[in-house]
Amino acid sequence: MIPRLALFPLTAGANELGHLVIGGCDTVKLAEEFGTPLYLFDEDTLHRKCAEFKGEFSRRYPDTTVLYACKAFINKALARLLKEEGLGLDVVSAGELSIAQSVGFPLDKVYLHGNNKSAEEIRLALKDRVGRIVVDNFQELEMLDDLAEQSDFVPDILLRLSPGVDPHTHQYIATGVIDSKFGFPLGKGEEAVARAASARNLNLVGLHFHIGSLIFEVEPYLQAIDFMLQFVSDVKLISDFHFQELDIGGGYAVQYVLDSPAPPVAYYAEAITTRIVDKCRELKLDLPWLVIEPGRAIVGQAGVALYRAGVTKDIPGVRRYVSVDGGMADNIRPALYGSVYEAVLANKIVNGKTEKVTIAGRFCESGDILIRDIELPPVATGDIIAVPDCGAYCLPMASNYNSSLKPAIVMVKDGRARLIRRRETYRDLIDCDLT
Ligand code: LLP
Repeated sequence: MIPRLALFPLTAGANELGHLVIGGCDTVKLAEEFGTPLYLFDEDTLHRKCAEFKGEFSRRYPDTTVLYACKAFINKALARLLKEEGLGLDVVSAGELSIAQSVGFPLDKVYLHGNNKSAEEIRLALKDRVGRIVVDNFQELEMLDDLAEQSDFVPDILLRLSPGVDPHTHQYIATGVIDSKFGFPLGKGEEAVARAASARNLNLVGLHFHIGSLIFEVEPYLQAIDFMLQFVSDVKLISDFHFQELDIGGGYAVQYVLDSPAPPVAYYAEAITTRIVDKCRELKLDLPWLVIEPGRAIVGQAGVALYRAGVTKDIPGVRRYVSVDGGMADNIRPALYGSVYEAVLANKIVNGKTEKVTIAGRFCESGDILIRDIELPPVATGDIIAVPDCGAYCLPMASNYNSSLKPAIVMVKDGRARLIRRRETYRDLIDCDLT
């Protein structure tokens, strides 16, 4: 079998036609039926990833809550599935909150994040009585206290601290470093706790950090945990802060390419929970409730992008380009972060002769290259190119560049495909315009 299939959803395989099958559905047929570019999500993989996070953490540390970080991708169908799984949600905007609301998601399991929450968003969160508001800075703390006074709700809050840890990831997605726009900076934590603990309309229950995304090592998490628990121990001496909850954010990696494996969830869970228990024992702290916020690691592998190959072009002695009908408008990650992906030809899942090609998008920028120098069976116009690990941060960062239409999304399971978001239409492109 093709090694790259290991990067696809857990139900991936090939049928007798040599076609890629996911969730029991022939992806070549899906491309014909729903058109391309098409994003598909495998329901079984989503369930299994949710179960894996819940199981691996709570088996070792029963007082754990798993929040799914909606920024990785959210829509109504996914919100419904997460509700069924009993996960909570990390939302960063009134938009994400409104999607949660639209499916009757229990809002006491929703945490509101953001480094620049608007008064309107905070009012909405107070009205909805969300589970936690994660306060990012002093201005927000003040505004929240005032707005809470005007409401009849005393919110439970966490303070986001920046622990000053380098997670060894792309600089755009490293957030817990000293020079970060997120969280109370180093040296300001004590003041933040003192002010939050004495705020009359807020209930300070704990602390939050998020050090970054796509983190392949556990050491940065352990450093951040040490920092936070030491901070709690120090701050307890000067204030009456009753520390009950530690939210350690997300960042758990997924494997995008064959030569860069990601640690299993169990590896993160073991290292993180052991360190919390050991450090609390050392500092004589009660064990806090633990909150984790995986995004990418829940949805990444479940999602696949299907493109149709169009024009091919050879530059003798340089490279062969294969252009597809999507690109940076539906997946900006290669252009923005230099992210790397694998791919297969969904209509030719065969072992045999390969050629080196570069898969280019259809958008008007030279940087719109999806995959540089990949070995594939000879690609012909009309072939379907399937890219694994497209479940996270592709669709939510999609644009209408070149007035393109955002793709359709289908959920597959047991041989059935359900459209969970229709493809945009040209009408959608002009509907907000006024003349
Ligand atoms: N919690 C907080 C507070 C976050 O800011 C994030 C991600 C997460 C949890 C989830 O992180 P994850 O488990 O998904 O790594 N657009 C970038 C990723 C940006 C991540 C932003 N924050 C990308 O395409 O790689």
